Amino acid sequence: RPFIGYRNGQLMVEDVSVNDLARAHGTPLFIYAKAAMLQALAAYQRGFAGRDAQICYAMKANSSLAILQTFVRAGCGLDIVSGGELDRALAAGCEPHKIIFSGVGKTRAEMRRALDAGIGCFNVESRAELEVLDEVARSMGQRAPVSVRVNPDVDAKTHPYISTGLKGNKFGIAHQDAVDTYLFAASCKGLRVVGIDCHIGSQITEMAPYLDAMDRVLDLVTAIEAAGVPIQHIDFGGGLGIDYQGDTPPAADTLWAALLAKLDARGFGQRKLMIEPGRSLVGNAGVCITEVLYLKPGEQKNFLIVDAAMNDLPRPAMYQAHHGIVPVLPRDGATTTWDVVGPVCESGDWIGRDRDLNVAQGDLLAVLSAGAYCMSMASNYNTRGRAAEVLVDGAQAMLIRERESVADQLRLERAL
Ligand code: LLP
Repeated sequence: RPFIGYRNGQLMVEDVSVNDLARAHGTPLFIYAKAAMLQALAAYQRGFAGRDAQICYAMKANSSLAILQTFVRAGCGLDIVSGGELDRALAAGCEPHKIIFSGVGKTRAEMRRALDAGIGCFNVESRAELEVLDEVARSMGQRAPVSVRVNPDVDAKTHPYISTGLKGNKFGIAHQDAVDTYLFAASCKGLRVVGIDCHIGSQITEMAPYLDAMDRVLDLVTAIEAAGVPIQHIDFGGGLGIDYQGDTPPAADTLWAALLAKLDARGFGQRKLMIEPGRSLVGNAGVCITEVLYLKPGEQKNFLIVDAAMNDLPRPAMYQAHHGIVPVLPRDGATTTWDVVGPVCESGDWIGRDRDLNVAQGDLLAVLSAGAYCMSMASNYNTRGRAAEVLVDGAQAMLIRERESVADQLRLERAL
């Protein structure tokens, strides 16, 4: 039985009625199925059975405390990209040595804080960052554990899904500079080289780019070790896609069976592995429930104006992304084609285009695949409070984030 689906004519998240939750907590409302998250995680865990591997959930995908706790209690570490995420990770009870710190722009203060906490690894993205981290660590009498993010430069022509692993974007160290960068890192008294990492992009739905990137990274490991710098762990980043609209990404265990076969064939089967999946752990575990405010049929377009907007669900506006939209209580009868739009004062504030729906004012709609990169990217544009969030576990539902009030928003402001 799917964790999010219809039963007796109404949308359910696990054993809880979405309609009941929306009536109790209001809309827009994010609802997550805990079992769906754990099931997504289990596919990775199966894939890594018997291996020395650490799954570090990329918390940027959804950093709500209860979501983090769910993954941490299931054994995950966390991939963080800011001091704020570090504090959330610690608040969620993540063991510091299971935290890895990614990102191109870590500040000195963030480095200090992470060294103080004793995190497992800094994924460093430039020579200048290595220099600063070395200085900060030495000033604290420490050696910072580092991995250098390498840019595998997998050919975009054959694999157009890859967006961050190419020359010409801001991420990682160029392939040809990797050995020199490692020699430099190994010479720094404030650094301790522990690994190598890469991340080739997001919403990847094919295996081939991963296999190519792995070959490129393993070539580098061989070259770096031949130059005298041992590499303990290999971190392959995240990026595995989910089904938004008939997408067919490989299952995590299928992908990893292929990748592990390659690692074994190349003699790296015993190496410690790390990964940083985000979207594939939470994306399809969440929905956003929104109420239809107005029907506005028109000459060229019919608009369905709903109470969720680009500040709650930024992916359509930012990436022309597709999210499924379905009724919470489906009606019998003919459908009409609608553009589903929010109340924000921008033409870019749309949630779905040309959707066939049979709805009336006051109906509830569920925006699907809303577990990743929705709440964590939400804003207060138009002084809209951020939505509330509920975590469902079987027949239990728990409010994990209250709806943000205007008072919450005004708290940091000072009137003239
Ligand atoms: N590791 C690194 C270094 C990353 O930059 C990312 C995502 C991940 C791991 C996790 O990737 P995932 O498994 O979630 O694909 N806001 C965009 C996605 C941005 C992804 C940024 N980096 C979206 O909504 O599609």
